[in-house]
Amino acid sequence: MSTLENLSCPIDSALLIRHERVLTCEHGHTYDLAKTGYVNLLPVQNKRSKDPGDSKEMVVARQAFLNQHHYFPIVSAILSSWPKDHLVSGVRILDAGCGEGYYLSEIGHAMSQQGIDAERTGLDISKWAIVAASKRDKTVSWLVGSNASLPAPNERYDAVLCLFGFPIFKEFARVLSEDGLMLLVESGPNHLIELREILYPSIHDYKQTFSEGIADFELVLEQAETFTFTLNTQEKIQELLSMTPHIHKASYEGREAVKQLDSIILTADIKLRWYRKKTKEVNHV
Ligand SMILES: C[S@@+](CC[C@H](N)C(=O)[O-])C[C@H]1O[C@@H](n2cnc3c(N)ncnc32)[C@H](O)[C@@H]1O
Ligand SMILES: [Zn+2]
Repeated sequence: MSTLENLSCPIDSALLIRHERVLTCEHGHTYDLAKTGYVNLLPVQNKRSKDPGDSKEMVVARQAFLNQHHYFPIVSAILSSWPKDHLVSGVRILDAGCGEGYYLSEIGHAMSQQGIDAERTGLDISKWAIVAASKRDKTVSWLVGSNASLPAPNERYDAVLCLFGFPIFKEFARVLSEDGLMLLVESGPNHLIELREILYPSIHDYKQTFSEGIADFELVLEQAETFTFTLNTQEKIQELLSMTPHIHKASYEGREAVKQLDSIILTADIKLRWYRKKTKEVNHV
């Protein structure tokens, strides 16, 4: 069961105590559990828009695509590259920008098959994503919240995952325990290249993200994962397109050309980077 324990009030950072289906802080702010068991810790004043994050339609399309398990090799790669000193029972994991929960749920199943019992929390700014996630898996604590201001005390987690998301490194470092891990998963140079060649007249050069390093973190492992998969209906191709940035970036002509396809063989090219939180330097007097 999800515990929803040891979280903090998004208004004043006080610890939240759970009494059945309500979380309360010492200043009297209360947060009810939704019917499906998640809790909304994104106060109205922290919202930039009325319905932030991915829309309901985007969530539905991503869920339909991910449920076909074409991206399961990413789950396997995450598990096999997980630094072994942190792959232990009791490990506390936060998936920051978890979407509709596919990866965190599958990671939990894969870990329990290896006898590892992890405490998992999934957070996303999109209510639609968290509604879907909370229906998918009842063993995870699901939160609506923002990476910009995580509703968790300092050093609450041992690993923060950010998969195709929007990392806020200061916050990730704050909620990570000493020598805690951060995983960034992003697309590599050839990701969905066959689709991009149809969508765009020319392909931009690939730019490595965070190539100058990330303050408070040291890179411990970098791995590329490449595999191919086939989509054999126009509907499946559109589902994939809806979960990529190309749906907004590509031209009308490009998107029309994709509409003519009945099937396509695609390359997935994924980059995984594991970082460790730097230990604070102690000033010896
Ligand atoms: C490309 S999706 C990736 C979702 C999921 N990690 C996956 O790989 O299936 C990016 C997600 O980040 C969420 N998001 C955007 N801004 C966010 C923020 N400030 N804090 C938390 N999540 C955010 C979106 O709602 C969306 O679900
Ligand atoms: Zn409060």
